[in-house]
Amino acid sequence: MSGLNPRFRQALQAALERYETPFYAYDLTSIQAKVSALRAAFPQAELFFAMKANPRLGILRRLLGLGVFLEAVSLGEVRRAYAAGFKRKEVLLNGPLKTPAMLAELKEIGVPILGLDSLPDAERVTRHLPGSHVILRVNPDLPVLTHDHLATGRGESKFGILPQDIGRALKIARAGDLDVLGLHVHLGSALERAEDFHAGYALMEQLYKEHGPFEVLNLGGGFGLGLDLTRLAPAALGLAERLGVELWLEPGRYLVAEAGVLVTRTWGLKQTRRKFLLVDAGMSHLLRPMLYGAQHPVEPLYKGGAPQTFDLAGPACESGDILAKDLTLPTPKEGDALAIMQAGAYGSSMSSNYLDTPRPLELLWTGEEWEVLRRRQSWESLLLEEQPGEGG
Ligand code: LLP
Repeated sequence: MSGLNPRFRQALQAALERYETPFYAYDLTSIQAKVSALRAAFPQAELFFAMKANPRLGILRRLLGLGVFLEAVSLGEVRRAYAAGFKRKEVLLNGPLKTPAMLAELKEIGVPILGLDSLPDAERVTRHLPGSHVILRVNPDLPVLTHDHLATGRGESKFGILPQDIGRALKIARAGDLDVLGLHVHLGSALERAEDFHAGYALMEQLYKEHGPFEVLNLGGGFGLGLDLTRLAPAALGLAERLGVELWLEPGRYLVAEAGVLVTRTWGLKQTRRKFLLVDAGMSHLLRPMLYGAQHPVEPLYKGGAPQTFDLAGPACESGDILAKDLTLPTPKEGDALAIMQAGAYGSSMSSNYLDTPRPLELLWTGEEWEVLRRRQSWESLLLEEQPGEGG
């Protein structure tokens, strides 16, 4: 996996002169290149970006400009998609639960394409939003190689409708006057093995033969950063062609992870029985190392002295607040900056206010200049929801 692109590195140095750390910084040119690469690999596919990976309006609007649609999973995300300028048919709402209140609100603001996730979900949508365009999510009951939290297609996971129940779900949807566009499978996230996808594709072919015809086949997202797309694309395209359907994909990480870095400054080494480099970003800003044991490469943005090996430790009061283990880097001075790589997906979107930490600044490098996508949250704003008054 590649290091920092030299022009982006130079831009980061300029950003460090203007902005306080920690901040997220994204390279728009990288996102554009990833969209082109996916389009080249899957020429006929409709792309629905999984906006949970990075929901910044400034990024969503650029994707809209490139003809990419959105995959959402909450009411908030649908509202954000509409705020960014997407139309109803350009947004697909997945997720295991759609409450009556949520469905009522969708009726007000515009009903997107709905992913039905269970028989009760199908019934509820039938009752509240007849006439909707829907797609049925299959639980393929297949093992995949990834972190347990990221495997969504196992039979034990909470997602989707088991293959043997698809017939019943279709009956409910059709009797309830829903327009069923097709079936959907999302096997999991950060998948690195093409074979895992091939097994899912074979199952979908079987289900289409059994229950079709349909207009659409949604093969989800989940492309790991090391996955070889050339081993996937021919199988997916061949399948869509044999079935005579439109192919949809829902990439999240693939489009934005490598475009983003979390920039942090170091404030010195400390030693217990291990050696730590203390930095001003931690689990409140980037949870993935702690939650999934995710390994993010780290690049120094300084020259530094002789190399040393240490863990990168955040400021939180938790032993698990370690952003990287056993890093060997040139020894930094106080105030030197580091880029934590592959942080463009599920970085900021999973950040929290734990320990009264304001959410960090987010910047976009357009190739020419820095654009502020989101200002640093003010600490004062954290208190606003706690002011006495009505509400709840
Ligand atoms: N489609 C569906 C239905 C999904 O649930 C997801 C991700 C995607 C597409 C996009 O998956 P991707 O292409 O990004 O792998 N927080 C975790 C990832 C959770 C993904 C949840 N669903 C992480 O930081 O790795």
